[in-house]
Amino acid sequence: MERWTLREFEAAARERLDPAHYDYFAGGAGDEITVRANEAAFARLGLLPRVLRGAAKLQTGVTLLGSRAAMPVLVAPTAFHRLADPEGERATARAAAAAETIMIVSMASTVAVGDVAAAAPGAELWFQLYLQPDESFTETVVRRAEAAGCRALVVTADSPVHGRRERDLRNGFLDLPEHLCCENMRDGDRVRPIVMSPELSWRHLDRLREMTSLPIVVKGVAHPEDARIALDHGISAIMVSNHGGRQLDTVPAAVDLLPDIVAAVGGAVPVLLDGGVRRGTDVLKALALGAAAVAVGRPVIWGLAAGGERGVASVLALLRAEVEQALTLCGCACLADLDAGMVRRPC
Ligand SMILES: Cc1cc2nc3c(=O)[nH]c(=O)nc-3n(C[C@H](O)[C@H](O)[C@H](O)COP(=O)(O)O)c2cc1C
Repeated sequence: MERWTLREFEAAARERLDPAHYDYFAGGAGDEITVRANEAAFARLGLLPRVLRGAAKLQTGVTLLGSRAAMPVLVAPTAFHRLADPEGERATARAAAAAETIMIVSMASTVAVGDVAAAAPGAELWFQLYLQPDESFTETVVRRAEAAGCRALVVTADSPVHGRRERDLRNGFLDLPEHLCCENMRDGDRVRPIVMSPELSWRHLDRLREMTSLPIVVKGVAHPEDARIALDHGISAIMVSNHGGRQLDTVPAAVDLLPDIVAAVGGAVPVLLDGGVRRGTDVLKALALGAAAVAVGRPVIWGLAAGGERGVASVLALLRAEVEQALTLCGCACLADLDAGMVRRPC
């Protein structure tokens, strides 16, 4: 069945998924105020198109930290893809490679990062990392990501503890089924838990910086002051994110956080954003406000659950088509033609 919007993919995924797994993917922390805010904030922004600008040859490609993407929409790191499809992250990576975009593989992937890379030759992979208090194990995982050919490390900084996900508590969904595990956490014949620790600090990030020559992205920045501090620690990009509303509830919508962070960074490094991107017009709004690219989390899961690799490919193709059409309707030939003056609130 042909699907015309990302929302239809969510409906199809919901029909196929175990209800507890659907809740795990869809849900967020607390009252899910931030989950809803992420999408609602995009809807409140209006686009002011320009006209008669002779914008003929469309160009939507971006280069980020040396990785090339055919569109400014990346695959955000999300855990547990094999709950959605037996091929899991392998299928997602193949679809990302076909769409010529970057996939950020989660540390909590249910396929080891090396196997993800092997399954999707030509895929541009980055690797998401929760810094572990046992830094020698952080290093083990970093070496696995490097060996798999990942081109950047994305350190998720917004998770000193798990968010309070009440849907999961209610459903008793506290762990993966027995046949699945976080494959990147294998340590000899055991699988380590991913430790989230409030003790982590910028010093741990400095030590990661010494461990690897890969560019480091800090994900989960909400406060402009943290963006400024990140620059002092030699990071290569900042990802504005509230973890899709799954960590601290009532953090403002990602797109509402963006302008202050863009101002704080002052062009020193690229600023990325995720949270609530569901339409090509959302992508354009974020880019006009200064993001270099955006990433999508749940829409990819919905594609995967609805139709495996082909489902993810359709989701990414749909977003690309929407970006191209909206860009043309805005009178722009390329992403650099977008500027903050084209975004108005309220619409
Ligand atoms: C089911 C699920 C699992 C996630 N797992 C991770 C993860 O392992 N690491 C991480 O940094 N972020 C994780 N995230 C957050 C995403 O990277 C991203 O910030 C968020 O999904 C963006 O919002 P969106 O779903 O509205 O696009 C997860 C999000 C979801 C929905």
